[in-house]
Amino acid sequence: MHYKHNFNPTISDEEIFEKIVAEKEDIGYYSLPLQDSSTYKEYAQTVKQKNIVVIGIGGSTLGTYAIYKYLKHSKKLDKKLYFLETTDPIDIQSKLEQVELEDTLFIVISKSGTTVETVSIFKYVHSLVKIDHNNCVVVTENDSKLRKYADANGMKSFEIPKNVGGRFSVFSAVGLLPLAIVGINIDDILKGAKLVHDSFFSQRSFYSRLINKARFLVEYKNSFNVNVVFSYSSRLEGFNKWYIQLWGESLGKVDINSTRQGLTPIGIIGPIDQHSFLQLIIEGKRDKTVTVIKVENFSNDLKIPSVNLEGLEELNYLDDLEFSSLINKQADATIESINALNDIPCDVITIDGMCESAIASLMYEYELLTSLCAKFMYINAYDQPGVESGKKILKEKLIQKK
Ligand code: PA5
Repeated sequence: MHYKHNFNPTISDEEIFEKIVAEKEDIGYYSLPLQDSSTYKEYAQTVKQKNIVVIGIGGSTLGTYAIYKYLKHSKKLDKKLYFLETTDPIDIQSKLEQVELEDTLFIVISKSGTTVETVSIFKYVHSLVKIDHNNCVVVTENDSKLRKYADANGMKSFEIPKNVGGRFSVFSAVGLLPLAIVGINIDDILKGAKLVHDSFFSQRSFYSRLINKARFLVEYKNSFNVNVVFSYSSRLEGFNKWYIQLWGESLGKVDINSTRQGLTPIGIIGPIDQHSFLQLIIEGKRDKTVTVIKVENFSNDLKIPSVNLEGLEELNYLDDLEFSSLINKQADATIESINALNDIPCDVITIDGMCESAIASLMYEYELLTSLCAKFMYINAYDQPGVESGKKILKEKLIQKK
């Protein structure tokens, strides 16, 4: 008797874990938390410039921006970091007006080395300031055209390993180099990521937490197709953007049965979006899961003073309350109101505080979750064939124009 099938069978936790462990041999991001960071720290020591401008897009900037945005107000950083990512001319001009170009190090980051946005902006920068090995460094694949450019000009370059995909590259030179240069403790970044790595791969708490969550998200994806991350800190705005790229570009795929797969990411900020998107969560279609992200310790004691405002006495219960306590109570109230409905899947991640390890753990957790969901869906999380045709059309249009 023979048996054949053309569908993707439900897969056990053990099988999923085995597949991820096997994939770890080929996919480079998993092991990045274990690397030695001395090359980045040594280079960072040599940088004299006060302004650091990263030129790149997508996976080459979003992760670094997420970490920098999260930490920059809580750390005494030596230098300022700027990101040139878009071809919007007003954005390019206004950002470059803020920096003293003569006191700037440009870090050009592109894995492929030929990304239109990155190269156009880099070319433009050449028209403003003399670019050479003193004020420019490159982060790219070893055999890219950008690497050739760097070598030809005697510029220092750092490698993005071929098996580390753009949106999974934050813990490589892509993120670690600029962050080390501005004074962020990259060893603590790696420590935070490693904590989750070790816990997951030695099948401790992150193992069941992530496998269970990925299984739920995939098995119920036809009911709950939208995954809202509700971050209760404006410092997590960059994380939300990074999550949207990671989730969208990794999970929107056609599976091996030619079936379209995908989970739709939404990133919102509390309490601002309580006055906006929350209405859709509470009373709209039941097609969303919600993950609330709270920050345990804001390390900030800003308080609402006890001021009597005539006519507003009924709000005096706010007096003497710390803002950090207010925002966390707002998060709790939102969670309680969602849970009371009993039909919206909701989980809460509380991260420790405004420190390197906290944001790194969160980001590594999301990278693992993305890989797990992709495995459950029988798709490749690490390619992005869907964005190629637009790139080709653009090239043709630009060549025709000449
Ligand atoms: O995740 C990805 O691979 C993409 O989003 C890339 O990061 C993005 O397209 C930029 O590519 P590159 O680093 O080659 O310039």
